[in-house]
Amino acid sequence: MLISLEGIDGCGKSTQARLLAQHLREAGRDVVLTREPGGSPGAEEIRRLLVEGAGERWSAETECLLFTAARRDHLERTIRPALQAGRVVVTDRFADSTRVYQGAARGELRDLVDRLHALMIGVEPDRTFVIDIPPATGLARGAARGGAEDRFESLGLGFQERLARGFRDLAAEHPGRVRLIDGSGTPEDVAARIRAAL
Ligand code: TYD
Repeated sequence: MLISLEGIDGCGKSTQARLLAQHLREAGRDVVLTREPGGSPGAEEIRRLLVEGAGERWSAETECLLFTAARRDHLERTIRPALQAGRVVVTDRFADSTRVYQGAARGELRDLVDRLHALMIGVEPDRTFVIDIPPATGLARGAARGGAEDRFESLGLGFQERLARGFRDLAAEHPGRVRLIDGSGTPEDVAARIRAAL
C-alpha cells in the first residue's frame, strides 16, 4: 500500500507521516517512510535545487520538470522496490503537491502537470491524507522553524491560501482516495483522526 500525506507548508504532515509509520509498524507492518522532493539519493540532490534560493529562481514549467524528475527517481529506486517487496510506503508529499503547488502558482499549468504525470509517473497513492490548517497558522510555524528551505514559504500568505483551496478541491475531486483531515489540536489528536480515516 502507498499512502501519502499532503498539505500546505507548516501543516504538520511530516510529524504525521512519522506517527503513522510508527503506528503501522506497531501493528506489524513493514513500513518505508519517505518524502518528496527526495526519498532517493538522486532525488535528494534535485531537492536542493528546488527548495533553496529565490522564490522566482525557476519558471513554473522548469519546476514541474524538476519535481517530476525527482519523483521518477524516487519511484524507480525507493517506492516500486518497496511495494514489490510487500512493504507499506508512507510518503511525505507525492504527485498531489505538484498538482496543487505548480497548478496554484499558474492555473493553466494543471494540464501540463497531468500530462507529465501520466507519461512519467502513472501511479496514484492508495490513500492520501491532506492535513487541513489555516494558511496563517502554517506560515507562522514555518517562520518559527527558520532554515534555508523556505523558497515556497517566501511566496507569502496569498500563495498559501491558494494552496489550501487547491488541496480542498482535490479532496472534493477524489473523495475515494483523498481525505481531508482537521489539523487542529495536538499532534496526537491529528494522528488519531488519520488512523480512524485509514
Ligand atoms: P517539504 O519538504 O514537504 O516542506 P515542508 O516540510 O516545509 O512542508 O516540501 C518542500 C517544498 O516543496 C514545499 O514548499 C512544497 C514544495 N513542493 C512543490 O511545490 N511541488 C511538489 O511536487 C513537491 C513534492 C513539493
